[in-house]
Amino acid sequence: MSPAIGATLNRVDGRYKVRGESRYSAEVPVTNLVHAVVVNAKVASGRITSIDTGAAEQATGVLAVLTHRNLGRVANVPRLLPSLAGLAAPGQTFFPMQDETIHYGGQPVAIVVADTIERADHAGTLIRIEYETTPATTLLDQARDRAYVPERIFGGLLPGQSSRGDVAKALAEAEVRVDATYRFAPNHHNPIEMSASTAVWDDVDRLTIYDSTQGPNAVQLTVAELLGLPPISIRVVSHAVGGSFGSKAMVWHHPALAALAARHVGRPVRLVLTREQMFTSCGHREEQEQRVTIGAHADGRITALRHHKISLTSSFDDWAEPSLQSAAVAYLNPNYEGIYHLVRGNTITPTFMRAPGEASGMFALECAMDELAERVGIDPLELRMRNYSDTDPESGNPWSSSGLRECFQRAAELFGWHDRDPRPGSRREGQWLIGTGLASALYPVTQPVNPQRAKARIYNDGTAVVEAGVSEFGTGVFTAMTQVAADALGLPVERVRFVGGSSDLPNITAAVGSAGTSAVGSAVHVTACELRDQLIRRAVGDDHSPLHGADPARVEVRDGKMVLSDRPDVGETYSDLLHRTMTPDVEVLGTWNPPPQDAGYGIHTFGAQMAEVAVDADLGVVRVRRMVGVFAPGRVLNRKLAHSQLMGGMLWGLGQALLEATRMDPRLGRWANASLADYLVPVNADAPDVVVDTVEMRDDVVNPIGIKGVGEIGVVGAAAAIANAVHHATGRRIYELPITLEKLL
Ligand code: MOS
Repeated sequence: MSPAIGATLNRVDGRYKVRGESRYSAEVPVTNLVHAVVVNAKVASGRITSIDTGAAEQATGVLAVLTHRNLGRVANVPRLLPSLAGLAAPGQTFFPMQDETIHYGGQPVAIVVADTIERADHAGTLIRIEYETTPATTLLDQARDRAYVPERIFGGLLPGQSSRGDVAKALAEAEVRVDATYRFAPNHHNPIEMSASTAVWDDVDRLTIYDSTQGPNAVQLTVAELLGLPPISIRVVSHAVGGSFGSKAMVWHHPALAALAARHVGRPVRLVLTREQMFTSCGHREEQEQRVTIGAHADGRITALRHHKISLTSSFDDWAEPSLQSAAVAYLNPNYEGIYHLVRGNTITPTFMRAPGEASGMFALECAMDELAERVGIDPLELRMRNYSDTDPESGNPWSSSGLRECFQRAAELFGWHDRDPRPGSRREGQWLIGTGLASALYPVTQPVNPQRAKARIYNDGTAVVEAGVSEFGTGVFTAMTQVAADALGLPVERVRFVGGSSDLPNITAAVGSAGTSAVGSAVHVTACELRDQLIRRAVGDDHSPLHGADPARVEVRDGKMVLSDRPDVGETYSDLLHRTMTPDVEVLGTWNPPPQDAGYGIHTFGAQMAEVAVDADLGVVRVRRMVGVFAPGRVLNRKLAHSQLMGGMLWGLGQALLEATRMDPRLGRWANASLADYLVPVNADAPDVVVDTVEMRDDVVNPIGIKGVGEIGVVGAAAAIANAVHHATGRRIYELPITLEKLL
């Protein structure tokens, strides 16, 4: 039996997905169901002076209209803490419809509950709301003078500033300096499945929420606090989730609003956000600007890095995506200073968005590195190698594993990097200017803080079920868990089923920070090994077993049969043992304790990105022709899934580089392109020839299965490689994302 880990197993949920049989949270059949529609504020700042719900209440099919006057107060809004912690995790510390104040455009101001979604929607248009408006801040440029340095950012996880060495002195003494400022448009996640919650109170006053989330437990704990209920009163189920990218990493208002509405009308309530509401209800990547100053020797060796960021946050939370985190440790730089500046504005609190911080921060650093390479006359790849650090430059600790050099070497072969003529504008094919660029990719290996649990049960027919609360939001985690459990139990994958997606199952932290598969995978591995060992101990202790009296350490399991390692003909199957001992099944609950955060290693995931672009010399149109990404994510559980994740990430980088931008209309304080028609994401026609490869590095530090995560590293550096290629093609550096054609004219 060959190992399941590493095999290219098709998705265990694939056939249900392609047949349309997967149950998303807005599709779960529920009897007596009614529908809620949220009405949003049309102004960005001010207060409601009057609200007339009379006509809406009279409309056909309407059961209730809820506003701040009759919704009731929430018990407690938990503090903002990333869902990685495994605790309650609200997306922001403001809960709407508690008073008449308006903090941002699109803030929920009313909920209509009706027997059909169309009737609820129509009744919502009949509500008359008068506002007294106050000036709103919706753009960074409107309030730069009010910027401040927060004490902590990112839900309290990171300091607002950090430094080492003497950056001012080192910059002053540097032989070469690059100083550049990069601007980033806000971005939205746009998963295909909109967020949706179906709230059902049962006859014992227990609430079930079918929710579209990355963390059923986080939803359970957050809604419990908001409603003032014990967690035992709430169960959250996520059968299937149609994408998230961070929009469902934190717990926003809709599950609690659905629960409150359901309690109010005494019937199950379904609340599905509209596509437009997805732009104002689940956070976004914030508008930001980053200034990078690099000091270096004439041979390109970096002596100093100063990295400052200014971004727009909400009026209640100090949120900034951690753009400085990976850039700070990407290269050997003895003198460093990183500072976040925030401007409070009239927006929902921004949130995690795929490669939160790394996608922007590494863009700035890697574009500045390209400029440095040009200034010192060194190949960009050689510049990265010259500044490669064997240790984490911040702590001085060795990397648990790296692979950056190996990734660049492999990428250069696959891409054909070494034939490059470094002169910008040196290659032309008719109308098209051709250029190539590269960038490093770094993404931290985030570890859950709390123990991770799973349950494994083997039946006397030799099949096993493994359970943990994690939801499947498109990553293929159920498939990967089937593989991890199969190998640990010594069973073929067909005899193992993984069940997840419920807060009733053993607690798993929300699948965020590219740590979902490693967190649940480690718990599943530990648990399945414990179950296997327990069965082996039973066999060697049973005088009817052919293994009786053997040393358990010398017994292994192959294809469901426990055998002596050196005499595979001696042994018996799990099924034989369980039948003989009249045992229907054996079950264990296992726990994986993540290593402490300061385990004496720098833990990061590394990769190399390369891109080739063609720029229309007259029209400024940029077409990406080729992308090559090579990554070192530790061990690869399933090549097909991992490559899909990495390729998806790279295409996100293409979107970030050339297409994605949410445009704020500052006169209205509202997003001007809140639809998939106007917010551009890459489609197949934009997708070039994308080559993905992995370099497997052994890592015994990160977790027992040696994986670092593939969910986000693919995004990092992809946009910088494209921007650097645009420069190589045209000789022009564009400092503002996305790089649209008017910026190149
Ligand atoms: Mo991921 S953006 O941490 O959900």
